Amino acid sequence: METVVSGIRSTGRLHLGNYFGALKNFITMQQENRCYFFIADYHALTTHPDPKALSASVRSVLAEYLACGIDPNTATIYRQSDLVETFELYLALNMQAYLGELMKTTSFKDKARKQPENVNAGLLTYPVLMAADILIHKAHKVPVGKDQEQHLEMTRTFARRFNHFHGMDVFPEPVAYNFGKQLVKVPGLDGSGKMGKSEGENNAIYLADAPEVTRKKIMRALTDQGPTEPNSKPPVFIQNLFTLLGLVSTPDVVKHYKKTYADCSIRYGDLKKQLAEDTLAFIAPIRERIVDIENDTALINRVLKDGAEKARESSSKTLQEVRDLWGFKPF
Ligand code: ADP
Ligand code: TRP
Repeated sequence: METVVSGIRSTGRLHLGNYFGALKNFITMQQENRCYFFIADYHALTTHPDPKALSASVRSVLAEYLACGIDPNTATIYRQSDLVETFELYLALNMQAYLGELMKTTSFKDKARKQPENVNAGLLTYPVLMAADILIHKAHKVPVGKDQEQHLEMTRTFARRFNHFHGMDVFPEPVAYNFGKQLVKVPGLDGSGKMGKSEGENNAIYLADAPEVTRKKIMRALTDQGPTEPNSKPPVFIQNLFTLLGLVSTPDVVKHYKKTYADCSIRYGDLKKQLAEDTLAFIAPIRERIVDIENDTALINRVLKDGAEKARESSSKTLQEVRDLWGFKPF
């Protein structure tokens, strides 16, 4: 069995794009691998967030993951700040991470440009902390998007350097885990590219949105006058609605609307109503669980406590090995 580590940023709410693009795969992954899913709250400190907002966000990310089906009895779910072993490994790895390579990292250069008033050392060593998150469990696979590939490459460099220095294969070199053919791009409601947090309020359908909000967003989605020629190719914004329908409705429903599009009898009002109702039916059980879990402080605390304990079994072993190799042991 292989080990998987995934760091989740504690920003924003989950939308359908996150669900179909990432979460659904995580749920399958947890059955087949030893999975560690953690909430990267220390990484969030690089931008000096409001502590209350940060804490609320950790709580909601956790609730949404659990509500979607990440099972704390199968996977290990914890908060980064609870696993202090990570930070000792981070310090150790920092001794073999060089200023030149850290300054060349794309994410550092981006951030330094975006927040020139706050170019802190945490930003510079962000990839080292990420490497510590991954190496502390000796992960083989890391499910990440394209934007994290460079960080993962640096993790491999730090792992190799450590192994080479000590002449021991302590850390595996972790590879990015891509979901291959299952990869879907969930379109947004504004007719353009993908569903995302940063593409405007009405573009994304959030799992925690109230039903009225979801309904309104879908009914407002961009459409046109309808097809005038039989069997014509739908424009992108109509195709997007079909794609969304394909995710939440039955194949028969999709077939029906494709057929009515092809013979020009389609009524977009009906299509959107159907999409809204099927989306709501899909989201409803998840949303109910989100609300229940978010309000259940005892459950949240228990999941975090158990998760940190489970994570510690692997992190303390790794740290012990690292300390021994550096000679931090009784004389
Ligand atoms: P956002 O684009 O809303 O900021 P993130 O960049 O935080 O979302 O993405 C978190 C995860 O969700 C990533 O694995 C990403 O690939 C996936 N994801 C986000 N939006 C979509 C989408 N529209 N379709 C498919 N996957 C998505
Ligand atoms: N840097 C990642 C992101 O921005 C989050 C992250 C932190 C992470 N530590 C990690 C991802 C370890 C995977 C493994 O999305």
